[in-house]
Amino acid sequence: MSVIVLGSVNMDVVLSVNTLPQAGETIAASAQNLYPGGKGANQAIASARCGAPTAFFGAVGDDDYGAVLAKNLQDNGIDTAGLKVLAGRRTGQASIYVSAAGENSIVILAGANHDFVFDEDGGPVPVPSAPAVRLAQFEMPLAAIKAFFDAPGAASGTRILNPAPALPDGRFLFDLSDILIVNQTELATYAGRPDAASSPEASIALARGLLSRDDQWVVVTLGADGLVAVGAGQEIFVAGLDTEVVDTTGAGDCFCGALAARLSASEPLRDALAFANAAAALAVSRRGAGPSMPTFEEVVARQAR
Ligand code: RIB
Ligand code: NA
Repeated sequence: MSVIVLGSVNMDVVLSVNTLPQAGETIAASAQNLYPGGKGANQAIASARCGAPTAFFGAVGDDDYGAVLAKNLQDNGIDTAGLKVLAGRRTGQASIYVSAAGENSIVILAGANHDFVFDEDGGPVPVPSAPAVRLAQFEMPLAAIKAFFDAPGAASGTRILNPAPALPDGRFLFDLSDILIVNQTELATYAGRPDAASSPEASIALARGLLSRDDQWVVVTLGADGLVAVGAGQEIFVAGLDTEVVDTTGAGDCFCGALAARLSASEPLRDALAFANAAAALAVSRRGAGPSMPTFEEVVARQAR
């Protein structure tokens, strides 16, 4: 099977700072870099580099950033027939601070991402209808995600939803997905328990509350502690790997894209989760979002260490 990603494309404008600024504070940056980003594009790059035939659906504006980002997807071997270039619109942009400890804060200007629609019958970008591993996040219009997961053939593949950033209005899409991937903050938001404890045990209990079908899984990424996955009557734990934290931007996207790639190659969920965990450990040790995505061979070597 192939992987089809519906998602955002952003140019990440990254300022390196010592510590993240407080409200009202002025601080100095040590460097500025532009990196290809956007949760959707990052996930597609991770999927392609991890060896899956990958197609992308999304939108950029008809500006310089859009051209650079479209070429970057193509250079990674991704099929961009579903990438729209919208006249008169600006390509999505993210302003990102990355601290010396590798933590970030991100502000997004959605731009063209929020104007994406699938075209009606016969249009240049119809809803893709083949069975595949489908992957979507929440930086796109919810109606487009619904069409993507509702398309003919979609339910006979695997629909992976990474509902990030947390958007409680998007909860209706959980029923349409086979695997949900959330971090602990997103989990607490969707569970309606923003004050909940963040131990693996507490995460398991909250994750169970998000399951709506017996054949569904909720994966909770735990940062340095690895992950837990919860299905009907089943649990999978994967421990975190020791890694140097340089820049966590895009690590969650790496996890999602790598998991999709391995599931599309028919790997069992437990093994695919362990692979994705190792892929994300590599991504946090590198700068930038898109550029930090590892290849299949790099992940296999990391797992063998
Ligand atoms: O998940 C990281 C991504 O979120 C960044 O690349 C940024 O563009 C935002 O979409
Ligand atoms: Na990174």
